[in-house]
Formats: sequence, structure tokens, C-alpha cells
Amino acid sequence: MAGADYLERIPNNVNLRDDRRLLRALEEWQPRFLDWWKEMGPDGFQATEVYLRTAISVDRDGWAQFGYVKMPDYRWGIFLAEPEPDRRIAFGDHLGKSAWPEVPGEYRGVLRRLIVTQGDTEPASVEQQRHLGRTCPSIYDLRNLFQVNVEEGRHLWAMVYLLHAYFGRDGREEAEALLQRRSGDRDKPRILGAFNEQTPDWLSFFMFCFFTDRDGKYQLASLQESGFDPLSRTCRFMLTEEAHHMFVGEVGVARIVQKSCELMRDHRTDDDVRRHGGIDLPTLQRYINFHYSVSLDLFGSEVSTNAANAFTMGLKGRFEETKKDDDHRLADSTYPVTTLEADRVVSRDLPALTALNERLRDDYIADCQRGVDRWNRIIDEHGIDLELRLPHRGFHRAIGSFGEAKISPDGRVITQAEWDARRDEWLPTPEDAQFVATLMRPVVEPGRFAGWIAPPPRGINGLSLDHEYVRLTRKEG
Ligand SMILES: [Fe+2]
Ligand SMILES: [Fe+2]
Repeated sequence: MAGADYLERIPNNVNLRDDRRLLRALEEWQPRFLDWWKEMGPDGFQATEVYLRTAISVDRDGWAQFGYVKMPDYRWGIFLAEPEPDRRIAFGDHLGKSAWPEVPGEYRGVLRRLIVTQGDTEPASVEQQRHLGRTCPSIYDLRNLFQVNVEEGRHLWAMVYLLHAYFGRDGREEAEALLQRRSGDRDKPRILGAFNEQTPDWLSFFMFCFFTDRDGKYQLASLQESGFDPLSRTCRFMLTEEAHHMFVGEVGVARIVQKSCELMRDHRTDDDVRRHGGIDLPTLQRYINFHYSVSLDLFGSEVSTNAANAFTMGLKGRFEETKKDDDHRLADSTYPVTTLEADRVVSRDLPALTALNERLRDDYIADCQRGVDRWNRIIDEHGIDLELRLPHRGFHRAIGSFGEAKISPDGRVITQAEWDARRDEWLPTPEDAQFVATLMRPVVEPGRFAGWIAPPPRGINGLSLDHEYVRLTRKEG
């Protein structure tokens, strides 16, 4: 495949110009996408120039270009990673056969559902975050928010391309429906629970990027293993962009932790961080508990025949499937699953095939823990005796075997009465949200940062911290 057609109306590296029907269908979808962006994308700032990175090719070095763009003029494009020559299906019933360049007819429905479910999360997060621009802690952060937003928009394009190119009429209908659903809407909500929650403040935003967007990373990583080659290549390139979203979340929370520790040290106080304009660590813990638990639900039930089927069919693999050293069919193997049995939390060896959701959740949990460890190192460096923790996987769950029970953060099955009595210790309270809301005052002078968050270690793309990442001086009409 040659380079990308970056100058086309829809930048792409899939030779769109050679497929007039597909091109026309996507060109018809494009203005509707823009209408959606203007209605549901960032509130305000649509005429503002933002220093953004745009994908222009899939070369490992130099895939992106940085420059000032007004968001509606962002060059949303379709980019698939380069095909791997003679790629083979790495798991399931079709192990060893050539990867499919087209949708296998018998798997059409399952594949479409996988693509639509992934696609639905992309615009959902843009909708959830649309009011945050007004309260940015710095224009560095404002730029990062918009970067994440435009890239989630591009991820929607990535999924819509697959729907249009490979699923005919139903695909086109699904592509329309992706623009019709709305996060949090009672009548036409987004498909998955966590994508209907609110992201009312920047603390929630950083937590969302760290925990909820990381679910996306794991879903994409297992779809990247797909035997349906266009999906695999699409996801492989999306993961390149996804790394920045993980960074925004992890470093965002780290900077809040850093600031809180500095306030504790400077004012010799353990429990009065709020009075000094910081977010106290117990509040951070409650936000962790919330965002982590709703994100765990995104992986689905511990035991799932859907997950088993998607694997057996060769549509969705495990995280790092090709690096695993087993039979890649899982017909006879087991996997330890933490579950609830008669009011006790137990570990049971269950058939590995139906435990695939749990295995992916385990990969995700280990990844989350690495981030939490880095946050704890900051606390430790300040000589503060406190540790942030991931709550037990059964805590505050709505889906799977723990969905019916009440589990404490340390993993005990508790009564409804104990839950009611202690809920406010464990999850953000309305009072927490109100307090965090009082901190959400915009800071827009280049190089300045709100008092509740430390500056990042460095700027974007080698630029200084006081660079004007968003040109707010020219007022919008
Ligand atoms: Fe995404
Ligand atoms: Fe993302």
C-alpha cells in the first residue's frame, strides 16, 4: 500500500478514491458527523485554534503532524496499519488459516455487534466531556482534552469506515445510529453503562482517561488479534493514538497527587488539604473507587458464552494472543476466576473459554495497578504514610457475579446496612462533587496552572510549558 491520501476530502490510506460507492457513502456521512460534532462536541471553542496532532500516515516514525487547527477543520481520516504479509488467524477454530480480508458470512452479526459496541464508546466520551473546556486548569490541559476529543472522533470514523465498507445496508444504518444515541440520554443512551455517566469536572476527566479509556485499550488490543484483517489493522493504528489518552489520565492524576502532597508538606497538615485549595487523598481514593468499579463492569460477566464464541470464531482474541504460549484454542484448559458463591468470595478454576472476559479484566487490573504504584511513589517521596489502592474487584459492581452483592473495598461480603452506613467513606459524595466543583475555575494564561494540580514535567511536542497551546485571544463570534 502506498502512502496516505492526505489531501483528499476524507484523508485515508485505503484507496477510497478507487471505490466510488463507498466514497460517496462516507462523503454523505461526513456532514452529519460534523453536525454531531458541532452539537455534541466541545461546548464553545469551535472557532478557536488549537495546537493539535493529526494522523497523516501510519509510518512508525512521523505518523502525525502538529499544528494549529480549528476543531471542526480537523482532518479526521481513515487509517489502517500496514497489512502483515500472509497474516494467519492466531486462535480459535480457524487457527492457522489465512486472515479474512472480508467478513465471513456466518459471523456477520457477531462481528457487526463487536464493531458497533466499540464504535459507540468513541462519540460517547466526547459527549461526556463536552463542558470541560470552560473550566480548564491550564491551556496545556485544555489542548490535551481537545486532542483526546478529536482522536475519539477519528476512532468513530475508523469504526464507521468498517461498517460502511463491509456491512452494506445494515452497516450504513448502524453508522447513522452512532450519531443518534447520546450519552446519558434516557430514551437513546449509549450502549455501555460507564459511557452514560457524567464527567462533570477535571478530576473525573483524568480518572476517566486513566480507568475507562484503558478499558478501550484492552478491547482494541484484543480486537487487534481478530481474524477479520481490516478490523485488526484498524485497531492496531487506533492503539497508537490511545497511548496519549492513557498518558493524559495517568499524568493528570499524578499531578493532582503531587500537588496534594506538596500542600500537605508545606502546611504540615494531614487533613486540611481542601482548605489550601487541593484535593485531599481520601477524596482521590473515592474517585478511584468509583471510576475503577464502573470500568471493571465494561469487561462483562466473569462467565460469558458470547466471549467464548467470539474467540472460537476467531473474531476477538486475548490480550497479546500471539505472544501466548499455549494451544490458542482453550478447549481443555481452565482459568482461575474470582466469583461469589453463597455469600463468599472464592476463586474457582473454570473453563478458560468462557472465562475470557475475566482474563482480560485481569490484564486490565494489572495495568491499572502499575499506574497506582507510580502515584504511590509520589506520596512516598513526600514522606506521607498513605497508600492509594484499587478496591476489590467485587466492589460496587453492577454486572457479573458481584452485581447482586455488596462487597467492601477490602473484599468482604457485607450487609446492605453496612453498605448504607459506609458508602460515603467509599464512593464520592454529593459534598465531594460540590467541593471539586468549587475548584473548577478556568486558568487560561499560558504557563499558569490551577492551584489543585501541579504542572506537568514537560510540554507538548518539545514545546515549553508556557506555550500558547490554545489561542484564546481571538474571541469567538
Ligand atoms: Fe478511542
Ligand atoms: Fe481513547
